[in-house]
Amino acid sequence: MENAEVGLIGLAVMGANLARNISNNGFKTVVYNRTTEKMTQYIEEFGNENLIGKESLEDFVQSIARPRKIIILVKAGDAVDAVINQLIPLVEKGDMIIDCGNTNYRDTIRRTNDLNEKGIHFIGCGVSGGEEGALNGPSIMPGGSPESWEEMKEMWKAIAADDFLGGPCTAHIGEGGAGHYVKMVHNGIEYAVMQMIAEAYDMLKKMYGQTPDEIAKVFKRFNEGRLNSFLFEIAVPVLLKKDGSAHIIDVILDKAGQKGTGKWTAIEALDRGIGLSSISESVFARVNSSYKEDRVHLARSFPKPELQSETTLEEFIQLLEQSLYAGMLSCYAQGFELIKLASTEEGWKVNLSEVSRIWQGGCIIRAEVLQFLTDTYKASGKESPKLLELKEIQKAINGSLPAWRDIICLSVQAGIPTPALTSGLQYIDASTTERLPANMIQGLRDYFGAHTYERTDKEGSFHTDWSE
Ligand code: 6PG
Repeated sequence: MENAEVGLIGLAVMGANLARNISNNGFKTVVYNRTTEKMTQYIEEFGNENLIGKESLEDFVQSIARPRKIIILVKAGDAVDAVINQLIPLVEKGDMIIDCGNTNYRDTIRRTNDLNEKGIHFIGCGVSGGEEGALNGPSIMPGGSPESWEEMKEMWKAIAADDFLGGPCTAHIGEGGAGHYVKMVHNGIEYAVMQMIAEAYDMLKKMYGQTPDEIAKVFKRFNEGRLNSFLFEIAVPVLLKKDGSAHIIDVILDKAGQKGTGKWTAIEALDRGIGLSSISESVFARVNSSYKEDRVHLARSFPKPELQSETTLEEFIQLLEQSLYAGMLSCYAQGFELIKLASTEEGWKVNLSEVSRIWQGGCIIRAEVLQFLTDTYKASGKESPKLLELKEIQKAINGSLPAWRDIICLSVQAGIPTPALTSGLQYIDASTTERLPANMIQGLRDYFGAHTYERTDKEGSFHTDWSE
């Protein structure tokens, strides 16, 4: 097969599955892998008239019809630069290089500018859905030029998941690094929602002595209601799975790993100056979990109180459901606020309603709550309004606030850390409080450093000689 419609470099799990998805949808695909053996094995297993492999990069590039579409799925970082540098002498003006990895958007902006000078389109494209999604339909978040979107959209739409509204889970996110930025925030939300699920598990286990099987039943019930989501769905088999007579969940070491996208989201929040408490706290929670030996040692010196609550298990489950619902809304609200701010500052014009829609299927944070958010965004008549300003969102969060406060009180009394749920509530309270105690901060700053302050009763910048 010559004149392939698309080429893909990198046959690790995501690349291997994405190439199969693309070719299964009728697009002639050619693949290349640095280790030829991996490519030949892959083609032996999955190759067909729409899916072939090439041993040399030159042959690979030559076999793609112009303008070429070359997807890279290699480890984010130096490996992406290395592949681009190998491709530069082989591709021509108008060709497209698409990075579908979890790349930092700043690298994407740099690469876009460098390749632009050579007349080559560079597209940073977020892809979510893990292994299964890559094969059967992920959520696809392409950045890059509008021209490249026009060239690629037919293929993206064909291979993307369904949004359950009859559309595909893909849309042009915006130019430059917009696609990778939105994927990064997706992962930040993923961290926060997962942390909330873990906190719910911990409370049920430690406060009510629930077994993994019993907690699985609670989560199954949650998943059948408005908390319906991929993460709650997979929490059930994660709890139920056994290794011999033991539940695997009971023997998994309580140290959470991370590859960096959650951390980048938190760093972005700090850099751009926006409160992103649940996402940031979820990153800290993973970091704290890694100090296992210290925790084991210190646990002996800080015994936890026995729960003295009269709340029955059933009452607790109902309170928890409401807290998790509002907590999830708060995670999404935080993430959307960050995207909105970055979009304004970078000039990306990201449509939040579309982001919400394309996360409804395929991706790791797909959830029923997103359908509610998409509908609410649409009904607002504005392209990217602040979520907390929308009446429907206010109603949903206000309805859950009493339960949410109860759950936090109970967890604090029992000495169970719930950083994501607690900070989600703090985010809502802090964002909706008319007068915060920042006046006290300003007074202290002015006292020790003459940093000045503004006043509520007159314009200007003031300094007081506090020692007088
Ligand atoms: C996805 C996932 C995917 C990956 C995360 C895991 O959307 O398909 O988010 O990108 O599973 O990056 O990240 P951590 O290893 O940092 O948890």
